[in-house]
Amino acid sequence: MAKKLYIKTYGCQMNVYDSLKMADIMRPMGYEECEEPEGADMVILNTCHIRERAAEKVYSELGRINQEKKRRKKEGGNMIVAVAGCVAQAEGEEIFRRAPYVDVVVGSQSYQNLPELIGKIQRGSGHAIDLEMRDDKFDLLPEESTKPQGVSACLSIQEGCDKFCTFCVVPYTRGAEYSRNVPEIYREAIRLVAGGAKEITLLGQNVNAFHGEMDGDVWNLGKLIKHLAKIEGLERIRYSTSHPSDMHEELYEAHANEQKLMPFLNLPVQSGSNKILASMNRKHTRDEYFKIIERLRDLRPDMQFSSDFIIGFPGETEQDFEDTLDLARSVGFSQAYSFTYSPRPGTPGAEMEDQVPEEIKDERLQRFQSLINEQQRKFNNSCEGLVMPVLFDRSGRKDDQLVGKSPYMQSVHITPGNENIFGKIVDVKIARALNFSLAGEVV
Ligand code: SAH
Ligand code: SF4
Ligand code: F3S
Repeated sequence: MAKKLYIKTYGCQMNVYDSLKMADIMRPMGYEECEEPEGADMVILNTCHIRERAAEKVYSELGRINQEKKRRKKEGGNMIVAVAGCVAQAEGEEIFRRAPYVDVVVGSQSYQNLPELIGKIQRGSGHAIDLEMRDDKFDLLPEESTKPQGVSACLSIQEGCDKFCTFCVVPYTRGAEYSRNVPEIYREAIRLVAGGAKEITLLGQNVNAFHGEMDGDVWNLGKLIKHLAKIEGLERIRYSTSHPSDMHEELYEAHANEQKLMPFLNLPVQSGSNKILASMNRKHTRDEYFKIIERLRDLRPDMQFSSDFIIGFPGETEQDFEDTLDLARSVGFSQAYSFTYSPRPGTPGAEMEDQVPEEIKDERLQRFQSLINEQQRKFNNSCEGLVMPVLFDRSGRKDDQLVGKSPYMQSVHITPGNENIFGKIVDVKIARALNFSLAGEVV
């Protein structure tokens, strides 16, 4: 009988991708994925370390998992508990100290060794840990996935980061920047499309810094996108997440000419104050950011933007915060992620003086988010009456509802008649705008 594997994923899309690969690795060992930890033979928490609460959440989830592990033991069974991802990479052995019932700790570049680590603990060696940073991870992962990703798939093409923004743990948890080679990416894209994918999101911590090998040359992201766009059956290409200073000529060209490249971009800016941008080590100014947005809008007038913001970085005055509001107002984002700054041990930001008090951070975040919500609603309202192609990839909360994605990453809800449109791109007339989604009818 198949053993049951429960994987819980935190954090970014890179982790979502890694979790899929972990399931692929465990399948030949007789593990099938299940939806909840109850009754599982193995649990993997694939963790995120980006903000403080993320790690704390993992420890409290581990506490709950341990209850289930104890229950299984009483019944004479067993449950292997593994912690993977960025908390594993950052905390290492500390996890065994705080949660001694954890069996395996494995980093983001060493999880291809899971079978070996499990073998070790089954031979009775207690804990097993592997946190090595390797650049051959992708060579060692199984190529084929027996479980297709579905209509909207993700594909990791780049990992790690050399930028060292002063607030961020990623360069420490994911290691140095590394790009996969083009033929390998192409093959994976072909397999995803053969498995039913209509949309592929290319992933990387700094995906537009991609520099993958192709026949002895080095290709950038723009060139890669143009190459992938030739794949028949692939209808939509997206990429996430980008750094403003890695925008390049061929990527602009791709936005101008490549119809499969969707007119939506998440381009994190973090702050609208030049002083804060400098102390964040972001390597660009607000004017440079405006120029990128302007240029993309010139090339593709319907282009919509999202961004990431950190509110209350050390030294942020009311004026600096006003600059951030002003930047957001000037760009007019169709959505955005914003969080208060959370000092991460080991990063320069955590050591900076002038930490902003929590109450001020929270109050600014609220003001910021109400501006963003307004902008999102305004954009959604502007879509009323339009007909847009929607890729239907999920069922809705209500039984008969289907949910899809507009070109601009909005969720679009419909109640279909008899037509079978799941997994298809169909034209939808937008009947109603809501705060965070749209509702419409198939035309
Ligand atoms: N590589 C991307 C973002 C990766 S991290 C970039 O260059 O922007 C994802 C987001 O988490 C960041 O954009 C940032 O907004 C947020 N983040 C990272 N570290 C943080 C911290 N210490 N406190 C609050 N938010 C943080
Ligand atoms: Fe973190 Fe900055 Fe690298 Fe993005 S660019 S992953 S924010 S260090
Ligand atoms: Fe989190 Fe690691 Fe991604 S810290 S955001 S899971 S790279």
